[in-house]
Amino acid sequence: MTSPTAPTPRVAIVTGAAQGIGRAISLRLASEGFSLGIADLSSSIDKLQDVVREVEQMGVRCVAIPTDVSKEKDVYELVAQTVTALGRLDVMVANAGIAPVASFLEMTPELLDTIYSVNVRGVFLCYQAAAKQMIKQGKGGRLIAACSTSGLRTGPNVSGYCSSKFAVRALNQGAALEFGKYGITANVYCPTVVETDMWKNIDEHITNMQGIEAGTYTQKRRDLNPMRRNATPEDIAGMVAFLASKDASFVSGQAMQVTGADWLS
Ligand SMILES: NC(=O)c1ccc[n+]([C@@H]2O[C@H](COP(=O)([O-])OP(=O)(O)OC[C@H]3O[C@@H](n4cnc5c(N)ncnc54)[C@H](O)[C@@H]3O)[C@@H](O)[C@H]2O)c1
Repeated sequence: MTSPTAPTPRVAIVTGAAQGIGRAISLRLASEGFSLGIADLSSSIDKLQDVVREVEQMGVRCVAIPTDVSKEKDVYELVAQTVTALGRLDVMVANAGIAPVASFLEMTPELLDTIYSVNVRGVFLCYQAAAKQMIKQGKGGRLIAACSTSGLRTGPNVSGYCSSKFAVRALNQGAALEFGKYGITANVYCPTVVETDMWKNIDEHITNMQGIEAGTYTQKRRDLNPMRRNATPEDIAGMVAFLASKDASFVSGQAMQVTGADWLS
């Protein structure tokens, strides 16, 4: 039983939490003592429930809330249900994203709309719904979103994805400027290659386009990285834990690279 003098645990939401980077962020924030509202598409509910079990084994409260981040009603429900279950909201990690590969000439307007609906509209909705709750609580908060090195420099065959991540960086800067007076910070993380299912799909498309063996592009990226490896989901989770921590209370409006010096500006 919690003692009456024990500090109330901070509460975080993580979207796209069923696998990959979102799962690693959830486990890392749980290890820091955060109570969690974790979200993903209803089609990923089994994997999301597995993450709930892992988090609960760490002695941390966790609720799984099926959410499509492109839907306004879902995102507002995600915040409301998390607050009902866990009492408050301190950190929003808008991690969910999609990365279809298509050349500029092959890209359809429909595909561009789909990418933007998840990566841009999704982050916008998560930031807005969370900020409203944090302002109501009056104790500040942390807004954190998935950007990418693709949000800093565009590459061929992913211009739709890259432009959506540029937009995430702009939304984040706007949030930092408007919410600073409420004690709310806003920052994005910009990973290089992280070998998740998303990356596997990108590798398959690129190697297929180039007529080379699947996995070759991933290996090339490992070899080209000054640290001779790609990022792990845990590398990214470490950055998110920092941005959610007390130590980052005056860090805002930033795009934090986690790249092993793979990309330097
Ligand atoms: N993997 C990389 O190399 C890499 C690099 C830079 C940035 N990122 C970004 O990091 C984030 C996580 O990437 P990942 O590699 O873990 O991807 P992933 O594909 O492994 O996982 C993404 C998760 O988001 C969920 N999701 C997709 N659409 C959703 C929606 N509309 N609503 C709710 N959930 C949804 C998926 O079901 C999945 O569980 C993404 O925003 C991605 O763009 C990834």
